[in-house]
Amino acid sequence: MKIGIIGGGGVGQAIAAKLIANGHDVHLGIRNPSKEELAKDRMMAKPLIDWVRDTGGKVVTFAEAAKHGEIVFAATNGATAIDALKLAGAENLKGKVLIDISNPLDFSKGMPPALLPQYDHFTSLGEETQKAFPEARVVKAFNTVSASAMVDASFVPGDHDLFIAGNDVEAKKTVENLARKEFGWKSFVDLGDIVGARATEHLLPLWVRLWMIGGTPKVNIKLVKG
Ligand SMILES: NC(=O)c1ccc[n+]([C@@H]2O[C@H](COP(=O)([O-])OP(=O)(O)OC[C@H]3O[C@@H](n4cnc5c(N)ncnc54)[C@H](OP(=O)(O)O)[C@@H]3O)[C@@H](O)[C@H]2O)c1
Repeated sequence: MKIGIIGGGGVGQAIAAKLIANGHDVHLGIRNPSKEELAKDRMMAKPLIDWVRDTGGKVVTFAEAAKHGEIVFAATNGATAIDALKLAGAENLKGKVLIDISNPLDFSKGMPPALLPQYDHFTSLGEETQKAFPEARVVKAFNTVSASAMVDASFVPGDHDLFIAGNDVEAKKTVENLARKEFGWKSFVDLGDIVGARATEHLLPLWVRLWMIGGTPKVNIKLVKG
């Protein structure tokens, strides 16, 4: 399958690498895929020149990645995630499943991060993404686990859940099937329409805290019902 990834950080690199290894045709997008940008050090991720060497993957612009993908992943810095998607182009996202992994986190005061105020009150980044791109089929998913767990559910031992939210029931099924087949996920919690993105983004302060006190990103949540 043709897949576009918007974002060349640790998440975009991990998702793209796994999907390439699984035999998919993946294009990874950044703002300016020049030689200098590819060689640049990236926080918590490889320089993309090393990623290309290790995966055989292709780095293109946001717009080229979005145009290429039958499914598109959005994995950029939360504060500018909608700007990144505007660069990707609404016309390149029209009718496509857009998997929104980005979290609206504010690290300006260090760890733990807070939620960005513009997404913290009766809205969320997922909802604003769906509003900004009404013809894309936005599904909020994977944003509540580490990049390593996104692409390999067994990174976290035991039984645990992936939260999903979005308006389009078929799009959510597509994401569930992809998560199951490509990344080994077994258990899903469908939080309903895209307003459910609010709940997953609000989980982040808890998830980061669990990581900090436990000293490991091998942590996730399991829903238990009576
Ligand atoms: N790291 C994790 O384990 C994890 C887990 C769950 C969710 N998330 C979420 O996943 C998202 C991606 O995280 P990440 O660590 O891979 O990457 P990141 O460092 O948060 O974001 C990197 C991407 O953001 C783009 N970007 C930065 N400033 C921009 C701007 N002004 N306009 C447009 N694009 C801009 C960069 O473009 P260039 O490449 O052109 O510089 C780059 O592709 C984040 O929202 C994060 O909260 C991360």
